[in-house]
Amino acid sequence: MSAQKKRASRTSSRAKPKARVKKKQAPKTARKKKAAPKRSVKKVAKKSVKKSLPLAKNRVTPKEPEFEPRKKSKKKNIASVRGMRDILMRDQRYWQWFLNVAKGITEQYGYSEIETPIVEDAQLFKRSIGDTTDLVQKEMYEFDDQSGDRIALRPEGTAGIVRAYVEHGMLNMPQPVKVYLAGPMFRYERPQSGRFRQFHQFNVEVLGSESPVMDAETILIAHTILKELGIETSIQVNSVGSPEARAEYNKVLKTYLKTHKSAAVKEALERYSKNLLRILDSKDPEIQSILEEAPQLIDYLDDDCRAHFVSVLEHLDELDLPYTLNPRIVRGLDYYNRTAFELWHGDTEETRQSALGGGGRYDGLVEKLGGRETPACGFALGIERIIAILRQEKTSPPKSDEPLVYLAQIGDNSKKRALKLFEQLRSQGIPIIGNLAKDGLRQQLEIANKKGAKFAVIVGQKEMIDGTVLIRDMESGIQETVVLENIEKELEKRLKKA
Ligand code: HAM
Repeated sequence: MSAQKKRASRTSSRAKPKARVKKKQAPKTARKKKAAPKRSVKKVAKKSVKKSLPLAKNRVTPKEPEFEPRKKSKKKNIASVRGMRDILMRDQRYWQWFLNVAKGITEQYGYSEIETPIVEDAQLFKRSIGDTTDLVQKEMYEFDDQSGDRIALRPEGTAGIVRAYVEHGMLNMPQPVKVYLAGPMFRYERPQSGRFRQFHQFNVEVLGSESPVMDAETILIAHTILKELGIETSIQVNSVGSPEARAEYNKVLKTYLKTHKSAAVKEALERYSKNLLRILDSKDPEIQSILEEAPQLIDYLDDDCRAHFVSVLEHLDELDLPYTLNPRIVRGLDYYNRTAFELWHGDTEETRQSALGGGGRYDGLVEKLGGRETPACGFALGIERIIAILRQEKTSPPKSDEPLVYLAQIGDNSKKRALKLFEQLRSQGIPIIGNLAKDGLRQQLEIANKKGAKFAVIVGQKEMIDGTVLIRDMESGIQETVVLENIEKELEKRLKKA
């Protein structure tokens, strides 16, 4: 597909966000026909649970509730703010999975969790990300609070972490200080697929080491987290050198571009007048093809930066990590020097526009924010984008290995006993789960199945009178009556074997 065509297809998909597509009214006959598969879906659902659920034959399998964002109605319901989304109950297992994997791996490499406020002095971001960047000029949520202080919602996590490092004297702790942070970030961007105004990042930062091993370690961690989740990524890596090398390269690049007398180049030179390097990120196909022949920043690196970059690449080779040297990775934030990298799922222009993560070295930032000269590097992963891929590729979070016991009850009277029994078993360490708000046994056993419970304890009307309960093996469907006093012992015996 030509670059122009690609752009056109991107634009057309952007122009039709899902929520806005109007459903065409189907003709009556077609609508009647559409109802048929619904019935067959129910049949299949019934069939699959038939063996294990002999009770309540006529009950219909409940549908999972749909939680679509509220649309503006005549009643003027208040909807969520554009570009900001709820993370609903059905999404939580993906989020927990991501966080468990990400935190687990990062902690193994010796990082500790840090949390910084969502709101910071706006000056923090202006000074670190750069006054002239799009992120600060166009995308930052910035306002005066009631005391007249100029504050901002954090658009990224690194600046806050560096501020905390300086403010809490972490410069005096054993170096390097290795931290990770998970939380929401805010950017006033045009909402589209994979781009939100509130989104979440998983940041990993090393402060106080200039060793190329740390660049490689952070790249490895980012890649490993995604690999562990079953997401293949390519590492796009570059070196943006020192500020001096970039200043020299800027001049060379400008001279090269001026030899092309096209309107697109003229416009781009104006647009990127404050930071010409950003032109390397341009999506304009004409600019892209002109840049193919352009001199490369890598050829203007000083000896130290070149040696550092070579060493980072040697580490990546040693680790057998699949990387691509990409001279166009310059990143949109001003604080970077030397290594810059992104992780793409696939290698196309589209995937490039929605990188799963990015990072690099920012050796001058601590000093810029009032600390001593301190080398540092890190990265951030975009959690929404990662979860979208997991869903798209139908990768499900693994089920817990712990053999769970589900407590089900039938009838109002049984609820009283069930509640007491639930607390008794829970406090004695039995991995019990349940939902006393549910009534029908069939529904409760379906939940037990979904949660992967090995056993169900059923408190029924008859059992209430007899002082017994039923223990049901969820796999075989075999049920046994057990005297209430022995329930704990009986469950422990079964759980040991499970
Ligand atoms: P960034 O490339 O701006 O880097 O963001 C990192 C990741 O956050 C992106 O690769 C993407 O997955 C996700 N992301 C960014 N904007 C959005 C958005 N509007 N909606 C959804 N996801 C988004 C940084 O923020 C640097 N602070 C990373 C870093 C850490 N460098 C060194 N340490």
